[in-house]
Formats: sequence, structure tokens, C-alpha cells
Amino acid sequence: MADHWIENHKRDSWRRQAKSSGYRARSAFKLLQIQEKFKLIREGDVVLDVGCHPGGWAQVAVELTGEDGVVIGVDLEPCQPVEGALLLVGDITESSTQERILEELNKRVINTIVSDISPDITGNWDVDQAIAMTLVADVLDFSLDLLCKGGSFTSKVFQGVGIEELITSVKPYFSEIKRFSPMASRNSSSEVYLVCRNYMPWVKRDTSIRQTYESLLDLKLNPNEEEVEQKVFTSFKVRKKK
Ligand SMILES: C[S@@+](CC[C@H](N)C(=O)[O-])C[C@H]1O[C@@H](n2cnc3c(N)ncnc32)[C@H](O)[C@@H]1O
Repeated sequence: MADHWIENHKRDSWRRQAKSSGYRARSAFKLLQIQEKFKLIREGDVVLDVGCHPGGWAQVAVELTGEDGVVIGVDLEPCQPVEGALLLVGDITESSTQERILEELNKRVINTIVSDISPDITGNWDVDQAIAMTLVADVLDFSLDLLCKGGSFTSKVFQGVGIEELITSVKPYFSEIKRFSPMASRNSSSEVYLVCRNYMPWVKRDTSIRQTYESLLDLKLNPNEEEVEQKVFTSFKVRKKK
């Protein structure tokens, strides 16, 4: 009970700070704390903000990228405008939304992808976890090809089944992957941010991140049926035993 009270108190305190500092959501502090630790966003950067509603991260991204930066956000929900950012409405997994993002990028590459995406909660923990993980894999599959050499990808994920498999699926393409829990994240929640730095576009992707992730997860859940062949520094091949 006491722990619960302390967590609620902390959460309210971030909310109050967000209000007094002009940020729309306390989640703005999460990105600020991620930025403080990892220095992901620089002046002049092109940033893609996935799951941007109500716009807290977009506000932070605009401040960090400055006048020469480009911030494109996307969410299922429409946002109030954020000066200096273009906030699109759409489902990031749908081709019409992806095409719109490509149009707005106008052949520019992205320096930093930040994703705070959270699917609607069904209340069934296993189902929610599975949906959340595959959504992150889909975001990766769309956005990695747009990322510049040395760029970064940061996404909210939820601790639980599949997180190790997701990390293994992404690992070949970045020189560094860290998990980070900003202070502004509720301790009671299982959310954690996966910070992937220094993208290596020359690493060939034979299969999609989602396919690799799902195959690895399948192997974990049915360990005796399949084996994995891992190619060092390349993507993975998953082979079924006859
Ligand atoms: C925690 S909120 C993001 C908060 C935001 N970072 C901020 O600071 O204001 C997560 C968002 O992900 C969005 N979302 C969930 N699934 C999505 C999808 N398939 N495409 C785009 N946005 C999605 C939700 O609509 C929700 O607004």
C-alpha cells in the first residue's frame, strides 16, 4: 500500500512538473531523461516520433533539434499542433501512413527514431504483451530502412515474454543496445526503453525483424522442435528440424 502511494505521488509530481514547464504530458520527462543519458537527438536532426499523441515528446524533440531540425510525429489520435513539428494522424503499420511519412521526408534520412507507442490494452497481459512486441517489430521493419548510418532507434517495450527475442532480432543492426528506465517512468509499470545506437545499414537483412522475432519466440515456447543457426554479424536463419 505504501509503495503504491509513493508511486502515485511520484507520478503526480511528474504531472505537476509537466504542467508548470509547459509540456503536454509527463512522458516528456522520460524523453528528456533518455536524452540526458544517451544524447540521442542533436541540433539539425531529422526525428521520427512514433506514437506522438498528445505531443510531449514532439515538444522536446523540437527544442533539441532547433530551427534547422525536422520533427515528424505520427499517431492514431490527432494532436494539437506543436510549433516546429509536423504531426500526422495514422496507423504506423499501414502503408498509407508510411507513404505519407516518406512523402514528408522527401528523401531525407532520419537521424533519430523515438517510439513511445502503446497499443490499446485488452486487460489480458499475455495478449497485450504479444501485441506490443509485434508492434515494435513492425515499427522497426518500416523505419530502419529510413535511418542514417550511425542513427538511433529508441522504443518503449514492456518487460516480459519476448523482450530477449526482440533484442536478439535487432542486435545485428546496431553496435549498442541498452535498456533504460527513466526516473519519470512509473516504477509500478513494466515499461522500459530499448535504446539502440549506431545503426549499421550495411548489415544485410534477409528476413524481417518481425519474422526473426516470431521465429525466435516460437523456438523459446517450443524448445524441442527447432534449432537456430546464428550467423555472427548478420541476421538470423531459423531452421526447422525434420
Ligand atoms: C504513451 S502515448 C505517447 C505519448 C507521447 N510520447 C507524448 O509524449 O505525448 C502512446 C501512443 O501510441 C499511439 N499508438 C498506438 N498504436 C499506434 C499505431 N499503430 N500507430 C500510431 N500510433 C499508435 C497511441 O494512440 C498513443 O497515443
